Amino acid sequence: MKLKLLLSAVACVGIASFAIADDDKNYEIIAKVMKEGLKGKTSPLAKTINGEASDEEIKDLFELVKTMEDTKAPKGEQDAYDEKVNQLIADLEKIAGGDKGDEAIAALKKSSNCKACHSDHKPD
Ligand code: HEC
Repeated sequence: MKLKLLLSAVACVGIASFAIADDDKNYEIIAKVMKEGLKGKTSPLAKTINGEASDEEIKDLFELVKTMEDTKAPKGEQDAYDEKVNQLIADLEKIAGGDKGDEAIAALKKSSNCKACHSDHKPD
């Protein structure tokens, strides 16, 4: 009986630390994309939008943003978050694939809108 209790206690601690590790990892992935890909006037995203990024930089940005696929919404509805993330990935994929036309860039501008995503999904 005592052993059973002990075992379930161990199992609980195990599960709890898994959950924490997952949250940390989730945050790490999102923060890396934000800081290395999206933030600032000279970020790969900004350069992609204003036409200064090389094909290599665009491809790297696409690969980086793709790591956000399947991340958990830190706040707000998961479905709405998935939709925004997937749209951003799709728009970048198109440009990385060579379509740098006005329409493709306008779509990226919209899907990378910082405030639209942050106001719903970024914790205060
Ligand atoms: C599709 C959603 C989405 C878009 C678009 C987006 N962000 Fe974020 N961003 C997030 C989420 C979610 C967080 C919060 C992560 C957390 O705290 O768990 C975040 C956090 C951040 C952070 C803080 C990272 C840290 O170190 O804690 C910065 C900086 C940032 N975003 C910059 C930007 C900029 C600049 C843009 C626009 C060019 C942008 N983001 C567009 C989802 C997005």
